[in-house]
Amino acid sequence: MNKSEELLLLKGINKKFGPVQILYDVDLSIYKGKVHALMGSNGAGKSTLMKIIAGDYTLDSGTIHLDNQLININSPGEAKSHGISVIHQELNLVKELTVSENIYLGKELTIGFGNFINSKKKALSKTKEIINKYNIQLDPLKKVKDLSIGEQQLVEILKAVSEESKVLIMDEPTAALSAEETKQLFKVITSLKSKGIGIIYISHRLDEIQEICDYVYILRDGRNVSEGLINHFSNERIIEEMVGSQIDNIFPSSDRKKGDELLRVEKIQNNILRSISFSLYEGEIIGIFGLIGAGQSEILNVLFGTKKKADGNIYVKNKLAKISSPIDAKKLGLAYVTENRKEEGLLLELGSEENMVLPSMGKFSSLGIKKQSLIKKVANDYKETLKIKLASISQPVKNLSGGNQQKVILGKWLLTGPEIILLSEPTRGIDVGARVEIYKLLDQLANESRKGIIMASSDADEVIGVSDRIFVVFEGEIIAEIDKSEATRERLMEFASGAKYLKEGV
Ligand SMILES: Nc1ncnc2c1ncn2[C@@H]1O[C@H](COP(=O)(O)OP(=O)(O)OP(=O)(O)O)[C@@H](O)[C@H]1O
Ligand SMILES: [Mg+2]
Repeated sequence: MNKSEELLLLKGINKKFGPVQILYDVDLSIYKGKVHALMGSNGAGKSTLMKIIAGDYTLDSGTIHLDNQLININSPGEAKSHGISVIHQELNLVKELTVSENIYLGKELTIGFGNFINSKKKALSKTKEIINKYNIQLDPLKKVKDLSIGEQQLVEILKAVSEESKVLIMDEPTAALSAEETKQLFKVITSLKSKGIGIIYISHRLDEIQEICDYVYILRDGRNVSEGLINHFSNERIIEEMVGSQIDNIFPSSDRKKGDELLRVEKIQNNILRSISFSLYEGEIIGIFGLIGAGQSEILNVLFGTKKKADGNIYVKNKLAKISSPIDAKKLGLAYVTENRKEEGLLLELGSEENMVLPSMGKFSSLGIKKQSLIKKVANDYKETLKIKLASISQPVKNLSGGNQQKVILGKWLLTGPEIILLSEPTRGIDVGARVEIYKLLDQLANESRKGIIMASSDADEVIGVSDRIFVVFEGEIIAEIDKSEATRERLMEFASGAKYLKEGV
């Protein structure tokens, strides 16, 4: 790319945490009006590098130039003053305030010395200005709590660009977005590009990278391994460079046979769900697909007792089951891996093995030391299978990369030895290499260990690749059951958007 368009230049960045080196002589150039993908497996060092640019961490050695000037970034404030903005994966909005209040929160002073009412008015008119500038559909007077996650993400973006941004960092911005919301985000990105903002984009979704990025950087174990124009990088090449080897089959192709009925749901109904009925069998994986908010996670919540009781009956192994809390569900042999790392209650100061083992320890404690060491061994096996990347054995989970935290949660639940496994967005934020391992593991659990699995996911390819049967949910109802052999991405999307439903009046 044209050297004169260079905005931000990182050279020879090194970073250690304690004795452990995370980044080794990393270089990165960011250009005006371009989107730069930063790719790498979980724990490769992507977020760490971004936090250095954003002033959250200081570098050990290396240089940063902005517009050809050597700069120092020692705090988030300093990064901001240089026009570097970050959208972290976790949203930082005040739910009770409106869109415009959130965007101008903490910036009252720069708006003027007038009274609060005045500054509120000014915030509103400024917000309208930006909303128009970027052509976004958003009501500035709506409270954030009334927005979808996708809309909240847009508010985060507006907040970041409401200052004079030159460089915008997006660390997994689409992890919680629906396909529709992602489209809207991409429109905003295109508009930001045309205004000359340089964007760094982190995502584990390869199709997004192909669609929105101009240039790609690949890190492996904290080192630059490859970079270039996106046109020169097929998905296969990106994966190979990230992982260091080829991956032939992303999805396992085992021929699973279903056994006895494990779970039966009859006419589950509440304010969201409408007459949900189905059976799950041993050795079977059911995929649930729907747009965000269509009710797919509500089905899992009702099954696991995290949502107040709904009408209808649930049978576990042909026995009427009373599930009014997760405790009831666990006793009946269910486990639920939710998509939400924050609410999963990882004990942040403890290590990953301890976190995985804890919920199972109580169950086995009466059986003594031997059993405990067995559990430890199994935990260790899961750590290997899931490729959980640690700097050291005792590293607290709070310092694990996002994707690795997600793997600890998965391991923790599998260790409880459930018969029915519920999963929501199990690979969100997880890199391709580990994703393949998780798909293999799910297949093994169903095929060899005869578990029944229900997986809700907004990734159509994943649902098709992993499931035996797919239920498409629309407005709280299962409107289609599609066999794996007949499932295509287009069919799933058509049902999920309601188009098919409305057309055929099923
Ligand atoms: N504050 C910290 N203290 C110690 N180690 C840390 C700290 N922050 C990150 N690490 C370690 O640095 C490595 C890189 O983590 P980082 O979060 O940068 O990975 P990542 O590439 O963003 O991964 P992911 O795709 O999972 O988000 C990991 O091994 C992580 O455990
Ligand atoms: Mg990260």
